[in-house]
Amino acid sequence: MVGDLASRDVGMSAKLLALVNSPYFGFRGKVVDTSRAVVLLGADAMFALVVTLHAFSCFKAEGVPEFSLESLWNHSARTSCIAKNLAAFEGLGKEAIGQASMAALLHDLGKLLLCTDFADEYNRILEEVRETGRVVSEVEKKVLGTTHAQVGAYLLVLWGIPSEVVDIIANHHSPKALGNKVSQEMLLFWANLFEHHLTIVNPSCSQPELPMLRFEALGVVEKIEMWRDVASRTLEKYDG
Ligand SMILES: [Fe+2]
Ligand SMILES: [Fe+2]
Repeated sequence: MVGDLASRDVGMSAKLLALVNSPYFGFRGKVVDTSRAVVLLGADAMFALVVTLHAFSCFKAEGVPEFSLESLWNHSARTSCIAKNLAAFEGLGKEAIGQASMAALLHDLGKLLLCTDFADEYNRILEEVRETGRVVSEVEKKVLGTTHAQVGAYLLVLWGIPSEVVDIIANHHSPKALGNKVSQEMLLFWANLFEHHLTIVNPSCSQPELPMLRFEALGVVEKIEMWRDVASRTLEKYDG
C-alpha cells in the first residue's frame, strides 16, 4: 500500500528511490521501483521515509541561513543507522529495532518546523547557542517555551506515526535513567550524541567532549566505549 501510493506520485517516487539507494540502506543503486523497496525495507521503514520526504517538502527553513536541510538529512540518516545498530547490540527485538531506527530518522523534524514558522526566534536561538555554548533544546525552551523534540512529536502524532515512536522522539534530549534497563529513548539520546561526536564537520575544529556527567547520571558509563565502538563502525560503513 505505501509502495502503491508512493509510485503514483512521480516526484515522490524518484526521491524515495534516491533515498533507498543512498548509503543509509546499503543497497547502492540496486532498487529500481517502490514496491521492491517496500519488500526490502518493510512498510514501517517506507512510511518513515515518506513522512520524512513530506516534511522536507513542506518546511524549507529558508529564513534561517545557518540551517541546512542537507545537514539535517545526513545527521538524521546517520543517527538512525547508529540507533538501529545500538538496539541490535543491546539484544532488542526486531520490532524495537525498527522503532529505534524510525524514531532516529524523524527525531529532529521539529527543528525544520520551528525554523520555518519561527525563523526570527530561531535565528536568535542559534545566536545564543553560538555565544554561550548552551544546548539547543535548553535555549529553545527559554525562547519559545517548547523544544524541537516536543514540537516534532506533536506533528508526528498528527501525521500518524505510532505512539511508541513519538514517545521516543519527545524524550530524545531528556531520557530517564531506568537502573540497568536500556530504554529506546536512551538509545536515541546516545546515537544522537555519538553522531555529533564522531562527525567532524570542520577538520580544523576539535571534536566536542562527550558529557560524561550525563552518562554517569544515566548509569551507563561502563557501556560507553562499547557503544562508541558500535557507532564508529556504523559510520565507517555508512561513509565507506
Ligand atoms: Fe534533537
Ligand atoms: Fe539530533
